[in-house]
Amino acid sequence: MIQNVTLKGVEFELRELTAADRNTVLAFAAALPAHDLLFLRRDITQTKVVEAWIAATEAGAFTTLLAEHEGAVVGCIALYTDPLSWSPHVGELRVLVADEVRKHGLGRWLVEQGFRIALDKGLSKLTAQMTIDQKAAITVFEELGFRGEALLKDQVRDADGKMHDLVVLACDVANASARIEAYGIGESA
Ligand SMILES: CC(C)(COP(=O)(O)OP(=O)(O)OC[C@H]1O[C@@H](n2cnc3c(N)ncnc32)[C@H](O)[C@@H]1OP(=O)(O)O)[C@@H](O)C(=O)NCCC(=O)NCCS
Repeated sequence: MIQNVTLKGVEFELRELTAADRNTVLAFAAALPAHDLLFLRRDITQTKVVEAWIAATEAGAFTTLLAEHEGAVVGCIALYTDPLSWSPHVGELRVLVADEVRKHGLGRWLVEQGFRIALDKGLSKLTAQMTIDQKAAITVFEELGFRGEALLKDQVRDADGKMHDLVVLACDVANASARIEAYGIGESA
């Protein structure tokens, strides 16, 4: 599956993550501000973490799509599900966009693709978590119908030992998708 989109005059290509992407994903992660990686459960600047992510994607636990611009990875969206858990109806979304292409609408477009994957998988609820100071992320998700459901105090410890709170946002897939379909992006409940 390959999909192209032009956002604010910049062309992006969306495609599935493959085993051959290890080094490009590592290069993408290494260029991101360290603070932007704290919402992820693992440190994706580490080779073994990226290898495990690729393996989990190949095993079906993640659906991972990469956004490329001029051959370089500049964004990604991953949807995690666990059909064997008590939450087979829930997916967790993770989205990341490279600093140099932010504010082009790529983050919003990627989350929209996340909704499509969730609908395809028959999920009814999506969650996303981020540190509470990630204003851009919170805005993108809230615009698409996510609302705060939980605050986890001191959930993340960064490389300097500093603690950060995480906010968990959630949304009903059918409601949010219907609203996006009917009104386009940017309508909030
Ligand atoms: C969150 C993130 C993916 C957004 O990517 P992006 O491509 O810049 O987002 P978009 O251009 O689609 O922005 C969509 C809307 O979010 C809001 N927004 C974007 N950047 C913002 C900022 N720095 N401050 C406040 N609002 C912001 C705007 O309302 C924007 O709409 P507009 O441009 O029409 O005004 C990106 O900032 C990122 O990778 N952050 C770090 C990782 C993270 O926290 N991920 C979320 C955890 S799942």
